[in-house]
Amino acid sequence: MSVQAQAIARHFGKACQSYSNAARLQRLTGYALLNRLPAEPRGCLLDLGCGPAWLHPELVQRCNSLLAVDLSAGMLYQARQSGLANEYIQADAAALPLASASVQQVFSNLMLQWCPKPAEVAAELERVLQSGGKVALSTLVQGTLAELRQAFLALQLSPHVNQFLTADALLLAMQQGAPAIDWQLHSETVQLSYPDVLSLGRELKSLGANYVPDKERKGLTGRHYWQQLQQAYPKAVGLKVSDSSAGSVTDTIIASYQVAYLTGVKR
Ligand SMILES: C[S@@+](CC[C@H](N)C(=O)[O-])C[C@H]1O[C@@H](n2cnc3c(N)ncnc32)[C@H](O)[C@@H]1O
Repeated sequence: MSVQAQAIARHFGKACQSYSNAARLQRLTGYALLNRLPAEPRGCLLDLGCGPAWLHPELVQRCNSLLAVDLSAGMLYQARQSGLANEYIQADAAALPLASASVQQVFSNLMLQWCPKPAEVAAELERVLQSGGKVALSTLVQGTLAELRQAFLALQLSPHVNQFLTADALLLAMQQGAPAIDWQLHSETVQLSYPDVLSLGRELKSLGANYVPDKERKGLTGRHYWQQLQQAYPKAVGLKVSDSSAGSVTDTIIASYQVAYLTGVKR
């Protein structure tokens, strides 16, 4: 496993118990993605980057056997608690320890943005899928956490925010990696609100999504740091909520997530 993959696995492992309660975006995209799979049970389904497997009660109804794969041992430990999958495999999506043409469906919710080379993942999907097999995945593309990035830039700080591919670059990478899959791309913007920037930071940490390659640094948790970010963060017009208990008005912030849904059938 590369140093970067180890760091990603470590962050998600640390978050394996807090993840499910924080997974607001993941629930929205996960259910949207489920609707892109055939409703009737169909062969072996691979859940790639399964996390703690909160979707497995739904996924088992759409297949005859379920394979759960994740990079993080901690996430797989959590996933095993429901015991709904037939196998739990710790592996990198770019190097799957699965036989060629062994699965009929691949489901992957918000995993791909953690893979530095999406074309390699696409090639693996093409290899493990049978002819006629379906893939449905969601990921994040450029525009995600744009407000947070803007706040860092306004403070003349290097943004502690992941870099995301554009939707077009992602589609091209998937087409190049897996030319035998007819890829379809659909994008949407999801906006979530938070009481403040610190709450956004805490949610990302609870999800294990606070890792930024080459930017692991300490000392980002001081009160002054969060206050500065809060001041620099773009104000959400029309989203002022009244905190009556304290008798004051609290600003509410918005974070945007640019979600790409990629679906395809292997010829
Ligand atoms: C945001 S979570 C999504 C979890 C789950 N799919 C859900 O819907 O909540 C991303 C997951 O992908 C896993 N992951 C990240 N990079 C991976 C890789 N290269 N191969 C396999 N899993 C990976 C992480 O360990 C984590 O569990």
